[in-house]
Amino acid sequence: MRSPTPSVFIQGIGAYKPERRLTNDDLSRIVDTSDEWIRTRSGIRERRIAALGESNADLGAAAAAAAIQDAGISREDIDLLIVATVSAEGPVPSTACQIQQKLGLRSGIPAFDIAAACSGFVYLLQIASHMLRAGDYRSALIVATEKLSGITDWQDRATCVLFGDGAGAAVVAKCDEPYVGILGNVLGADGTRGDLLTVSPRTGPKPASVADLPVGTHVIGMNGREIFRNAVRVMSQACRGVLEKCNVPASRLSLIIPHQANLRIIDAIASDLELPLQCFKLNLERVGNTSAASIPLALEEAYREGQIKVGDYILLVAFGGGFTWGATLIKWYQPKTS
Ligand code: UT7
Repeated sequence: MRSPTPSVFIQGIGAYKPERRLTNDDLSRIVDTSDEWIRTRSGIRERRIAALGESNADLGAAAAAAAIQDAGISREDIDLLIVATVSAEGPVPSTACQIQQKLGLRSGIPAFDIAAACSGFVYLLQIASHMLRAGDYRSALIVATEKLSGITDWQDRATCVLFGDGAGAAVVAKCDEPYVGILGNVLGADGTRGDLLTVSPRTGPKPASVADLPVGTHVIGMNGREIFRNAVRVMSQACRGVLEKCNVPASRLSLIIPHQANLRIIDAIASDLELPLQCFKLNLERVGNTSAASIPLALEEAYREGQIKVGDYILLVAFGGGFTWGATLIKWYQPKTS
């Protein structure tokens, strides 16, 4: 395959998970559900919830600081910041501008948000790669951060058992080595299916807070069954699409990092691609569905736990509200240190 030039690779990765754990048993005291139902239908046992006063930008800033440190560069070196989120405190200032301020990143660098729901991190990788390759920037910071607890309807058992808070970030940079790093992406969207997953103004009177959980002005609405069906189809197609585009057979993959929405969805994709479930990184049991943050949280965990080695082919694949989807193929790279 023709290598995209110059190569763009993940130079550093970071993540942040809030301290507070909300277990399935905790939820069964809030809505009519059970640990057994949540585990068997989704694979989730617990999720993290931001502390009172901890903002979506705080989560993102913590993950971003860790990614910059992991990259071994200084905050001054970052010359582009892009954030993916669907749970911003408000449209302006953007979460990116808030993170720029919190981290003391250089004044004057471009900073902006994108909204691609759970596909956000895969979208970020493609946008950052192209902006870096175009030649105007050297080190991009991409951050996927979600405080979904702030837009969760804690009275709706069909949705509140699925979501959690967290953030993941990466520093992406160019290098001269050919055919390494981000080898290819496929992205897509289908706005005709926008009604399957929405964040809309809350209707009816604002309920009282339970168990110190936030009560936001907007809440997530979802057609779970339809999303499930579509998710399996589009994620399998995206995986095949990017492998074909990069001319890499599925048998060469070391690890697949899927959006962590539902273990049964991931299981169905594994069957569809004829790959064992062991090839898939899973952490949804402990963090639930964190939308855009889902893939970088799992990627950081795999990296930190030594599941990723230089030269490995790693496939990231996501789907989310919009409807959006995307897949990225990475050949893991680290510059040699002399
Ligand atoms: O990032 C993208 C975000 N969204 C998703 O990825 C969601 C994708 N979809 C899913 O993960 C699954 O559809 C769910 C986990 C949401 C639901 O699983 P399901 O097997 O599709 O269940 P269902 O919606 O068909 O509901 C089955 C039953 C219903 O009762 P009846 O009508 O059969 O009596 C629901 O009322 O389960 C009931 N139910 C619950 N019961 C206990 C729904 N939520 C709960 C709950 N606890 N939390």
